[in-house]
Amino acid sequence: MHEHVYQRINLARQALADSVTILSHHYQKDEVVAHADFVGDSFLLSKRVAEESCSPNIVFCGVRFMAETADILTRGERCVILPDEKAGCSLADMATEKELEECWEYLSSLGLRLVPVAYVNSSAEVKAFCGRYGGATCTSSNAQQVFRWALSQGDSILFLPDEQLGRNMAAKMGLAAEQVARWSRQEKRVLPEVKPRLIVWDGHCNVHTEFKVEHVMHARRAYPDAMVIVHPECKPEVVDLADDVGSTEHLIRLVTSAPAGSTWVVGTEINLVRRLARQNPDKEVFCLDPYARPCPGMDCISASSLLSALEALVRGQPEGVIRVTGDIAECARLALKRMLDIGRL
Ligand code: 13P
Ligand code: SF4
Repeated sequence: MHEHVYQRINLARQALADSVTILSHHYQKDEVVAHADFVGDSFLLSKRVAEESCSPNIVFCGVRFMAETADILTRGERCVILPDEKAGCSLADMATEKELEECWEYLSSLGLRLVPVAYVNSSAEVKAFCGRYGGATCTSSNAQQVFRWALSQGDSILFLPDEQLGRNMAAKMGLAAEQVARWSRQEKRVLPEVKPRLIVWDGHCNVHTEFKVEHVMHARRAYPDAMVIVHPECKPEVVDLADDVGSTEHLIRLVTSAPAGSTWVVGTEINLVRRLARQNPDKEVFCLDPYARPCPGMDCISASSLLSALEALVRGQPEGVIRVTGDIAECARLALKRMLDIGRL
């Protein structure tokens, strides 16, 4: 069945020639990555879209916020397609614009000069809010740089929606635990209230918070010589026990540049870990949780859904087009551009 689908994808690509670029996040399945023109983490994909002259159609094999980011950065001048409308990010869904407005109103009463920073894993509305109020977006690759910039612009950062990434960055930057407060969506308050330098939203990634301290302990016993490396969306207590932490590209670099015979236990999305194991047959590569499940949003997309998206383009009737318009697109672009500019400082 795959072979038949692959052949049809190739035929559709021939028909579309240079009018389509297929982008893929590293968490996509092999059957999708096999057809990508460019594979990257969220930061590299955003940079690519912002800097390169892509074809008029971009088929984005990732999750919704990534396709929205591509549309915002290309000013709606390209047709950005998400092959499956169910491809969402549950972390991004943990912060709505309305919740953010409530939080902002509450925090404004504390008299702090706040700079809002949105992880790119957020809706276009949340990014737009940050752009409007002098803030920026960040990815796991540049969070530390963006946090530094934000602290130079105000007293405190409001970071959303990922509590774990926020806390891990605070630790990396040497902020004391008392300088980090938490916004609770349920209680609608922030604790502690005394001069926090960073306020983290109470969202989390359902995939990365599944990695537990016990998994690290088990890996240490089972593979005493292994390096344990994790993504910064993992809980701080897991990050503390790991040998290294970093963005998707950082984790890939560590494994691919390692000497033959080394052993790696990787705490991130399983599609990527399996691919790393296959692409590095001279090393041993395991997932930190042997029973890890793929990210449901990323896993929605398949070779078949990619084929449907391409064939719809061949028919001249694109399906799954992602469009962000008006003030939301303008302000979200401002927040994204600030992030890209901070990277050039
Ligand atoms: P990266 O920024 O490392 O690509 O991660 C994106 C993501 O969704 C991680 O769960
Ligand atoms: Fe979102 Fe987590 Fe999936 Fe990344 S792994 S896309 S943060 S749900």
